[in-house]
Amino acid sequence: MSVKIVETSLRDGHQSLLATRMTTKDILSILPELDNAGFYALEVWGGATFDACLRFLDEDPWDRLREIKKLAPKTKLQMLFRGQNILGYRHYPDDIVEKFVQKSIENGIDIIRIFDALNDVRNLKSAVDATKKYGGHCQIALSYTTSPVHTIDYYVNLAKEVEQMGADSLCIKDMSGILLPDDAYNLIKALKENSKLPINLHGHATAGIMQATYLKAIEAGVDIIDTALSPLSGGTSQVSTESFYHILRNTGNDTKLNIDLLKKAAEKLTVIKDQYLKSGTLNPKALTPNPNILEYQVPGGMLSNLMNQLKEQNQMHNYEKVLREIPIVRKDLGYPPLVTPLSQMVGTQAVMNVITEIRYKMVSKEIREYLHGLYGKTPAEIDSKFRSEIIGDDEVITHRPADDLLPEFENLKKKYQYIAKSDEALLSIALFEKVALSFLEKKYQEKPKQRKEVFAFSVTVGNGDTK
Ligand code: CO
Repeated sequence: MSVKIVETSLRDGHQSLLATRMTTKDILSILPELDNAGFYALEVWGGATFDACLRFLDEDPWDRLREIKKLAPKTKLQMLFRGQNILGYRHYPDDIVEKFVQKSIENGIDIIRIFDALNDVRNLKSAVDATKKYGGHCQIALSYTTSPVHTIDYYVNLAKEVEQMGADSLCIKDMSGILLPDDAYNLIKALKENSKLPINLHGHATAGIMQATYLKAIEAGVDIIDTALSPLSGGTSQVSTESFYHILRNTGNDTKLNIDLLKKAAEKLTVIKDQYLKSGTLNPKALTPNPNILEYQVPGGMLSNLMNQLKEQNQMHNYEKVLREIPIVRKDLGYPPLVTPLSQMVGTQAVMNVITEIRYKMVSKEIREYLHGLYGKTPAEIDSKFRSEIIGDDEVITHRPADDLLPEFENLKKKYQYIAKSDEALLSIALFEKVALSFLEKKYQEKPKQRKEVFAFSVTVGNGDTK
């Protein structure tokens, strides 16, 4: 039996450790080794990488994808896709979702991993249908969390639903790194008994438990695991690829990876990583296991975002209080998994509750929208008294949120044809309007313009994404 490996350093690895700042040049420099090393897939796109290209690196994310494809023609390329949120933070209309999937596949993506923060399958449907329509491998990810409603039965039922929707494989997406070894064993056993789909485990090393978890998952029959090349592994990232090469060989599971090529790529990546360490982009703290998250269930990316928010407001003394507040807010909101955009929304609300010293005295626009049903169905019912305290007797929608959205693509085309030379450029504008426009102005009109980094204290900042 052999376990397949997805190499994540070029997406999640640098998103988790290097604030998503790896440049295309850095990425391309290790691709020849990675493409020949024998991976099942390379995760290279999606999540915050798209946003960071435009916002911080002055790079076209579509160009990056095409260049990656050129240098890695053998191995499947994988991206992460936030269901109806695509790579952004709000719900987009179906025509934008479909076009984005189509163009991602046309430009080189083979596997699209689609998830919804609330595991509301209605929010996956457009992206799933488009992936199948354009010939991509559709992997549906279940956002993993623990709560009274997130039982094994809950995940088994979800798995059955996504299998019926047409998923080609299933992923357990443990963005916080809180899936304990025996829980993983029991969950994967149950999923295997109830679904024919190959199962991929995506975990983070944040709490220091993930190698044990992966090993138990392999015992339970997991088909695919996500690992990152050693220089970008550990801490808030994935577990190390080379370590798993050795672990798996020792347990009779041959990964068929070429360890010499991995070593070569790791050497190059170490030089790159050291530059980020020197510049301060990589905080050594992110590399130390943080078992406390097992208690607070806060993903690594969210922790660093919270720290930044509190520092900016001179509130670091309230850090522990905010951590204790998060599970309370989460319970009030029906136990959403803490993944983008919910992680930012819950975190910001917890900060507001602590700073104002009165719970829900201030409520963000996003949380209000959430309580109106605009993000989809919550995992547990929200207490009606709590809801009406915040949004009164406003109407709460129970249909799929994107049903209310009108098509946007043709209007965008008319509006921005003067600057967007391709459908890809229009999609960049559709997702990150201001940032994309300023990038395109620079690219095509060479208008000298001072670009500056935007670190807003808001739930929509790309930098604090959880992965
Ligand atoms: Co991740």
